[in-house]
Amino acid sequence: MADRHHITVTVNGTPYEATVESRLLLADFLRDHLGYVGVHVGCEHGVCGACTVFLDGQTVRSCLLFAVQADGCQIMTVEGLARDSNLHPLQEAFREKQAIQCGFCTPGMLLRAYELLQQNPHPTRDEIREAIAGNLCRCTGYQFIVEAIQAAAERLAVTSR
Ligand code: FES
Ligand code: FES
Repeated sequence: MADRHHITVTVNGTPYEATVESRLLLADFLRDHLGYVGVHVGCEHGVCGACTVFLDGQTVRSCLLFAVQADGCQIMTVEGLARDSNLHPLQEAFREKQAIQCGFCTPGMLLRAYELLQQNPHPTRDEIREAIAGNLCRCTGYQFIVEAIQAAAERLAVTSR
């Protein structure tokens, strides 16, 4: 197999071309090569969820994929949530409910929550807890994170009426 590969990806609507080594992780490619530093790298073993991004419409652990595997894909990072300098309702709710402590888990939590609300716009607290169970918060701020996701769901339900 060739050591280097030419790939094309679209991140948050912006197309990129790059030549990458076979071993380059998608998380490192997004952070270090493209500057999407909202992709946090914690465990690098698929455990913590800090590196979560959307790949062709569903969340993945970007530390468990190589950049070359994203060739031709659409990616969304946490930087893609805000629109025209306006925070997404989930981001607003995290801020208002003080669901951010050190913030390390926050990008992954936000993207997992975004996926949950796409699939289930009216989740119960238990469903929210289950949905974020794979994302670890080292500050253990789960209570406020759950409240923030519930508040955002209620706000989005009102605005989409
Ligand atoms: S850094 Fe990818 S799951 Fe922890
Ligand atoms: S806010 Fe610190 S890890 Fe979650």
